Amino acid sequence: MGSLNLPRKVSVLGSTGSVGVSTLDLLEKARVEVEVSALAAGRNVELLAEQALRWRPALAVVQDESKLPELRERLHGSGIATAAGSAAVLEAAAADAQWVMSAIVGFAGLAPTLTAAKTGAIVALANKESLICAGPALLRTAKLAGGAVIPVDSEHSAIFQVFAPANAGQVSRLILTASGGPFRTWRREQMARATPEQALAHPNWSMGAKITIDSATMMNKGLEVIEAAYLFGMEPERVDVLIHPQSIVHSLVEYADGSTLAQLGPPDMRTPIACAFAWPDRLPWPCEPLNLAKVGSLTFEAPDFERFPALRLAKEALVAGGVAPASLNAADEVAVAAFLDRRIGFLDIARVVAETLERMDRSHAGTQSDDVLEAAHIADATARRLAGEVVSALMARA
Ligand SMILES: NC(=O)c1ccc[n+]([C@@H]2O[C@H](COP(=O)([O-])OP(=O)(O)OC[C@H]3O[C@@H](n4cnc5c(N)ncnc54)[C@H](OP(=O)(O)O)[C@@H]3O)[C@@H](O)[C@H]2O)c1
Repeated sequence: MGSLNLPRKVSVLGSTGSVGVSTLDLLEKARVEVEVSALAAGRNVELLAEQALRWRPALAVVQDESKLPELRERLHGSGIATAAGSAAVLEAAAADAQWVMSAIVGFAGLAPTLTAAKTGAIVALANKESLICAGPALLRTAKLAGGAVIPVDSEHSAIFQVFAPANAGQVSRLILTASGGPFRTWRREQMARATPEQALAHPNWSMGAKITIDSATMMNKGLEVIEAAYLFGMEPERVDVLIHPQSIVHSLVEYADGSTLAQLGPPDMRTPIACAFAWPDRLPWPCEPLNLAKVGSLTFEAPDFERFPALRLAKEALVAGGVAPASLNAADEVAVAAFLDRRIGFLDIARVVAETLERMDRSHAGTQSDDVLEAAHIADATARRLAGEVVSALMARA
């Protein structure tokens, strides 16, 4: 590994989540020599402290301030600095690091991701919400600071690996693959009765709760369409979705001459994380190689926009532009939380998003600022309030 040009100082934001844990596991398994500058988590201080004792970061941060005493107690005598609260998460994001894994879930990841981008570090971007809500501003910030954003979402990592920026004008289509989630073959009447447990049982990927529910509604793929359009500078009509239940082909790039390039691999997030860590080099680690003979067949089908309206809603938000994607994201975060709490049904998730976007349109909400970030924050707060009202109305009707 001596000849590889790898980052030496890293930070992991959202270290206790699915992507965060996979990141640290990859670094462990690849036996890379890194110094960890900061680890940040939401509230799971037990795991954060365990990670901190293993990786010895200069700073360990928990967002939930009520958890700070427990974190301090667990790290007592270790010499590791501890802090809590949203400002402390930003401090972790700004810590001296060449590579920052951005793996906080939701809109809460936007400010830390932007802060990391401002330092000029390579931002390995799992937190798709920051791209959805402020994509162009985030990419501009990273470029101006001399850093870069490298996608970690497996679909965007796949495109990133087969997309030649110099030939961007010769790309005719980006094709994002989607497993179709646990309800791929379900009828709408069945989906109406789906429980959180059924929606959380993803057939191929083990992920956090929010993205797993988004995979079941296919909102995740819709968010990824927006993500891809921003990341690769593609018009909405040139970003398509293709159902591929085996999750082996992670996405495809179609060129004007009829060639279509794809990236393949087992459904394991450590591979796209390794790609973002070592790019343009390749990080050796004891991964399970893809055995296509064992996989046997790869199948593909067109997406069904009727059974999965979230896909259409996301594409419409991308076409509408401005703060529409941020509003869509906020409404979805509220709706997914309400579904997980059993306050609304599965099909209500897309209903809440659609109704919130209509109410946002009617009130021209979120357009009161010329500042992109301020506008995203206003849209996020307004959409959350409106989505909360829609959830309450649905509960009253049930
Ligand atoms: N999981 C995947 O395979 C996958 C694939 C592609 C993209 N992504 C994206 O990656 C991001 C993370 O997904 P995930 O599945 O890893 O989520 P997850 O398992 O729910 O983990 C979320 C992480 O964010 C932390 N967190 C939550 N709120 C926070 C806050 N306000 N401040 C600081 N930290 C906070 C959590 O801390 P606690 O656990 O301590 O509360 C946890 O470490 C999401 O944007 C998701 O869409 C995930």
